[in-house]
Amino acid sequence: MLRLENICKSFVQRGVVLDNLSLMVKDGDSISITGPSGSGKTTLLNLIGALDRPDSGSLYFRNKNIGSLDDDESAYYRNRNIGFVFQDHLLLPYLTVWENIILPLSAYRIEAGEYASREDHAKLLMERTGISGLSGKYPFQISGGEAQRTTLVRALVNRPDLLLGDEPTGSLDSENAELLGTILSDLNRDMGITLIVATHSPDLAGKMKKNYRLAGGKLQQ
Ligand SMILES: Nc1ncnc2c1ncn2[C@@H]1O[C@H](COP(=O)(O)OP(=O)(O)O)[C@@H](O)[C@H]1O
Ligand SMILES: [Mg+2]
Repeated sequence: MLRLENICKSFVQRGVVLDNLSLMVKDGDSISITGPSGSGKTTLLNLIGALDRPDSGSLYFRNKNIGSLDDDESAYYRNRNIGFVFQDHLLLPYLTVWENIILPLSAYRIEAGEYASREDHAKLLMERTGISGLSGKYPFQISGGEAQRTTLVRALVNRPDLLLGDEPTGSLDSENAELLGTILSDLNRDMGITLIVATHSPDLAGKMKKNYRLAGGKLQQ
């Protein structure tokens, strides 16, 4: 699905962050990336999500080079293929849980039948993540764990091939972190959703099938 070859990325103030990094991701993989703060985990996820571009090296997503897309092409690639979950839930406070979840359905034109099918998919995902009862609630009325599960459903509503998590459990208490980790590994197993998560949590990393450590700008298994 995804192939990174000899990726280099530096920042002026910091110097080299990613140093000739290579990675292969297959359909159905679940991958954890651990490593110290500042080791480049977020930088790497941003490159995979085409939020940033490498200085050199190539990124192929299904044999398409995504390292050199312009801004419109990047946005299209992201909307079509990638779901993101960040540390903080980033729900819009003036929309209900359901309205937040279906927001990505308006990112580009979808034919009516397909729209309905994605709404059904969203409902299924809400059941699987235990938030079915929350449709009409506003973000301030739900817990942090529920908000993060809402974000997860929103990230999956357009059926992305790949879900990227940047410290997805980083703001959760241990119980909710455990629950989110279990949901992620269940979604990977049952629905074949490919996962790459950057995390400090050994528990979350342990729920992924492949574990990498980012250090010195390179990934080690
Ligand atoms: N846009 C940027 N401009 C300058 N430096 C950056 C930028 N993004 C990240 N960095 C630097 O790159 C290094 C890696 O950051 P990051 O990828 O966020 O690490 P991690 O997610 O592993 O904590 C850090 O030293 C950070 O300060
Ligand atoms: Mg980070």
